[in-house]
Amino acid sequence: MQETLDISSIMHDESRQGEAFTIKQVKSEKEGNRQFYIESYGCAMNFSDSEIIAAILIKEGFKATRHFMEADLILVNTCSIRENAEQRVRQRLTEFSKAKKQNPSAIIGVLGCMAERLKSKFLEEEKIVDIVLGPDAYRDLPVLVARAEDGQRSVNVLLSREETYADINPVRLNSNGITAFISIMRGCNNMCSFCVVPFTRGRERSRDPHSIVAEATDLFAKGYREVTLLGQNVDSYHWQPGWGGETYNFAKLLESVAKINPLLRVRFSTSHPKDITDEVLHTMAAHHNMCKHIHLPVQSGSSAVLKRMNRTYDREWYLERVETIRKLLPGCGITTDIITGFCGETDAEHSDTLSMMETVKYNMAYMFSYSERPGTPAAKNFKDDVPVALKAKRLSEIVDLQHQHQQELHSLEPGKVYEVLAEGISKRSKEHLFGRTSENKVIIFPRNEVQLGDYVYVQVKEFTSATLFGEIINLNSKSEINRQHK
Ligand code: 5AD
Ligand code: SF4
Repeated sequence: MQETLDISSIMHDESRQGEAFTIKQVKSEKEGNRQFYIESYGCAMNFSDSEIIAAILIKEGFKATRHFMEADLILVNTCSIRENAEQRVRQRLTEFSKAKKQNPSAIIGVLGCMAERLKSKFLEEEKIVDIVLGPDAYRDLPVLVARAEDGQRSVNVLLSREETYADINPVRLNSNGITAFISIMRGCNNMCSFCVVPFTRGRERSRDPHSIVAEATDLFAKGYREVTLLGQNVDSYHWQPGWGGETYNFAKLLESVAKINPLLRVRFSTSHPKDITDEVLHTMAAHHNMCKHIHLPVQSGSSAVLKRMNRTYDREWYLERVETIRKLLPGCGITTDIITGFCGETDAEHSDTLSMMETVKYNMAYMFSYSERPGTPAAKNFKDDVPVALKAKRLSEIVDLQHQHQQELHSLEPGKVYEVLAEGISKRSKEHLFGRTSENKVIIFPRNEVQLGDYVYVQVKEFTSATLFGEIINLNSKSEINRQHK
């Protein structure tokens, strides 16, 4: 059974750093219950992994805490995708060393992609670290903790071809009780030349679909109303049972999850433009509860750059996929990732990215400056030759253009009515809730008597480039939607 904890996995929770904790206090806590603190960086997959790690530790008798100063075990689940992600973790480790000064028996562990990339070098470089654990070795955490308690610092960064943690029920961290991530596969076989993930997360492998459906069913029974299926490249999901039985591709998996209950929304991330099939698009169209949103990283609008990136599609292919999405799923939200200043990127190639953005008009984009990662094919084969200032200039151009597009797209929204899942209380006011439309547009609306997890119809009234603001129309529509869905 899944557990839900409203604690831990907070980023930068420094609220209690200044508080004095004596060693005596910490020790007496330790005798009763050892406490762990986990902080996660990077992609949704890392946050999802932290929930697996929490489940492993809770089974061992650990309790979660939100405050690293009172933890016996401080874990940081790291990201290596760009250099600045790694720098943030290093800074954080210096903060954690304060906890170790107060409580010398506190154990510090570095998990995830940075652990995998740096391996035992981490122990040499960061003297306060006791445990280094790669993404496929989390089951070994209790053993490494026991060794650390005996004063032994250790590393396990073995990658696996099979590990999917399918049998571990994640403990939901920082949960709103409404939306949850479900990891459906691990690793990546793609070898995009800029990307460190195939080296840190290993070969691609898919998780047993029955365990995925069971996890989603259990979440629904607990009141969750949305699941996001996670993988580096979900379109290449493939389940081949060893002993006969049905094979599953991604479309079939989606269908199985969508059929659990019409009130359970289904999202997924991330799609690869070379692999997203029409079958997936048809499956999305066939189910009302399959959210009409596709995150389709383009990376660059230039075919020449895409070739150097080893993305295995070109500009025309990508645009064809967008056209088909728009044809089969009218109104579908399309979001993307863009890297600017990749090796050898010329002004003309940069302009191709701007024109790609003009053509597609993305609903949202994550935009990055290229950051060379040691050991990747790009680092080996190309020069990181776009000057930092030019990368920054190009990045600000794409950021400005994206902002302009979101403003334009949002200016068309007032008056439209969306079905919205109420997900949380707005940060701005307790009298307002926020939710998302199927297309993944964030919308804020007055709370009235709406409960979190309810579906409501909201009419858009105002907008910024990031958010829509609306009014609930016909409160009874909530039950109408619910009836329709049953
Ligand atoms: N530099 C900059 N951005 C990168 N990404 C992946 N690797 C790098 C890198 N070396 C971006 C890609 C990917 C997203 C998760 O991170 O856009 O889609
Ligand atoms: Fe990295 Fe490409 Fe795999 Fe995404 S698809 S994780 S960018 S190698």
